[in-house]
Amino acid sequence: MYRLGLIGNPIKHSKSPELHEQFLKELGVKGVYKLYELTHDELGAFTERAKQDGILGFNVTVPYKEAIIPHLDRLDFFAKEMNAVNTVKLMNGELVGYNTDGIGYMEALRQFKPDFFDHTNKEILIIGAGGAAKGIALALNEIENTTINIANRTEDRAFELARKLKNGHVYSLAEAERHLEAYDLIIQTTTAGMQPNIDGQVIRLDRVKPTAIVSDIIYQPKWTKFLKQASEHGVHVLFGIDMLIYQAAKSFEIWTGHRPTEKLLESLKE
Ligand code: ATR
Repeated sequence: MYRLGLIGNPIKHSKSPELHEQFLKELGVKGVYKLYELTHDELGAFTERAKQDGILGFNVTVPYKEAIIPHLDRLDFFAKEMNAVNTVKLMNGELVGYNTDGIGYMEALRQFKPDFFDHTNKEILIIGAGGAAKGIALALNEIENTTINIANRTEDRAFELARKLKNGHVYSLAEAERHLEAYDLIIQTTTAGMQPNIDGQVIRLDRVKPTAIVSDIIYQPKWTKFLKQASEHGVHVLFGIDMLIYQAAKSFEIWTGHRPTEKLLESLKE
């Protein structure tokens, strides 16, 4: 019996249980994936109980991707580099933190536009500088010929992230909005636009280049205000659900050693 779960707040609308139940079904093993909506003060008690109860592992989402770290025994290289964790596995009584956000985003993008990184320098804009933004930025940082521009409400956080990148730059949200035609790939990683704040939108897309890919990592709702506006400009729209599916597949692989099939992953995008 595999015991899995998700911690965060709020998480009532999470799709992760549905995805992992499908992965478990395909693998043909019994298991549960539970939601744990915790307050900050409950993180310590939760991790202690997880160890005692012998959970297989759990995911971590907003707002605990950084806050969970002091409660873990070890981090893998990527999670350490990002200082953010979205996947935890219990191994020999120790809680080990991983981060599959960046890999998940990269795999979603590769499936969506396999040749995106083949030619010339790509200008990327990441909106936000939280845990998810970090994971994505560091994964994209491995690709040659990319310039990664970060725009965040709190500019100090944007500078902290840009310093970790080979070719990272910081702009204010207003500057990024004004220079939008420069970007080939725009990635919205803030929580503005997520249920219940569906009217939130950090950057307007009036100046977007029609050949650009515009993506939002929010998947509830699928069509955020940001993506609706993007589609009015005829750009390529990459949905948040795609990243969720591929990061979930990578987490599942870490926990169980089994990768869900591409056929199943494709079918879950609907
Ligand atoms: P996660 O770790 O899941 O990315 P997080 O660390 O809380 O979550 O990051 C949330 C991101 O959304 C941050 O970039 C945050 O901006 P700040 O660094 O300025 O807090 C951004 N964010 C959330 N609500 C926002 C809003 N209403 N307007 C602009 N940015 C917002």
